[in-house]
Amino acid sequence: MKVTISKRLPARGRLTVAIGTFEGRDQGRIGRAGLDRPAGAILRTLLASGDFRARPGELQVLHPAGGRIARLIVRRARDAAAKNLFLIAFDDEPSIARAMGEGAGLGHYRFDRFRSTKSPAPLARVEMIGVGARGEVAMRTGVRIGEAVSIARDLVATPGADLPPEKLAAAARDVGRAAGARVTVHGPRELERLGMGALLAVGRASAHPPRFVILERRAARTRRRPVVVIGKGVTFDSGGLSLKPADGMVRMKYDMSGAAAVIGLFHLLPALDPPFPVVGLIPTAENMPGGRALRPGDVVRTMDGTTVEVTNTDAEGRLLLADALGYARKLEPECVVDLATLTGAIRIALGSLAAGLFTPDDALAGELEAAAAATGERVWRMPVWEEYEAELRSDTADLVNSASRDGGASIAAAFLARFARGMRWAHLDIASTAWSLADRPDQPRGPTGFGVRLLAEWISRKTASA
Ligand code: BES
Ligand code: MN
Ligand code: ZN
Repeated sequence: MKVTISKRLPARGRLTVAIGTFEGRDQGRIGRAGLDRPAGAILRTLLASGDFRARPGELQVLHPAGGRIARLIVRRARDAAAKNLFLIAFDDEPSIARAMGEGAGLGHYRFDRFRSTKSPAPLARVEMIGVGARGEVAMRTGVRIGEAVSIARDLVATPGADLPPEKLAAAARDVGRAAGARVTVHGPRELERLGMGALLAVGRASAHPPRFVILERRAARTRRRPVVVIGKGVTFDSGGLSLKPADGMVRMKYDMSGAAAVIGLFHLLPALDPPFPVVGLIPTAENMPGGRALRPGDVVRTMDGTTVEVTNTDAEGRLLLADALGYARKLEPECVVDLATLTGAIRIALGSLAAGLFTPDDALAGELEAAAAATGERVWRMPVWEEYEAELRSDTADLVNSASRDGGASIAAAFLARFARGMRWAHLDIASTAWSLADRPDQPRGPTGFGVRLLAEWISRKTASA
């Protein structure tokens, strides 16, 4: 789908035109951007009638008689069977232009790589009318955000067999390089040398060995400390020898949603152009049972030298994140944010409405909460009290990797907190939000790409205040 900008509607042909409006806003200003007389009249009648309130998701399709405009859609257009759509901006405001660009891409999203009959793309072209010079840049940013979220959704939707660690690493490399980042992919031998015993252990029984991906975007002319984002990249989580039940395993291709969000963010970094370095870290492995598999009771050594008794091989995410946090520490970061589909417990706590936000740092929590509020990618702060860590005491090693089910999301966060000690750090448990069970206006059922917009907004706010 192409998105372009035009001054006015074309003079010829029968057109499909969409217009967005706002609840409670002066409806009189609408429609100046070139609606013809019949369309303008029917729109004014509709708005004056009070039958259309412009509530989120509300939609009206009008068929003005006698003009060039065959269909006038007030709000959503995907289901209207038009090839070319003309979108009229309510007024020339960058935030509106950006939302139009973003919405055009996101509303259009589909994943049919594995369908033998591809449904034709609903829209070939979207043309924006009434967007001025300021709006144009914003609109392009919006389109780019739509692309980034789609990249993340595609990766998450791809089955485990088609996206093992080396392929996820290759996808990160492609997106990172295209965005001007330096990309390093470490394989098993380098992981051994780095001392990433936990990441190696998680991936040991898979036919596809683990990788550790480093994406670095430098900033021109600064020697600032980097902002580090870490994404859990378990390409498939069977649970390992602590095998998941059949039902619980079905969606576990999505266990790399954190990694997908980090990759999506890198697609946006050139547009955001932060004046500080941004480093993305992706520990990626496939968690499988097998003759070489990590056993319950085994002890692994993480990069920072901590020993962990693995009491449950299904608590694998925190293991590979421990190694990633160990790596992050060496970068002396300004702050670190990790995104991970870490616990079923966060879904129990929050449903699918918000990701869990865990951090001892109130300022960092505030930054992420503000970005979440601006994007609608909700987060909800959860505790990481010290008592949770006490539950992780081991008789054999420094700590165990899993304890009671009660408070499971906070216990997982407390485990991570131990490896993040001394750094400004926040953890987002996105097991709740990375996959939507219901269709929503801005996305079909399935992978949400959660975290891309949140991270981008957060980086953009840090940029504005830098
Ligand atoms: N990837 C899962 C988290 C998950 C579980 C997401 C269920 C969605 C639904 C994670 O690796 C995991 O298996 N966590 C365990 C931890 C437990 C063994 C301490 C869980 O939440 O059950
Ligand atoms: Mn697991
Ligand atoms: Zn997992």
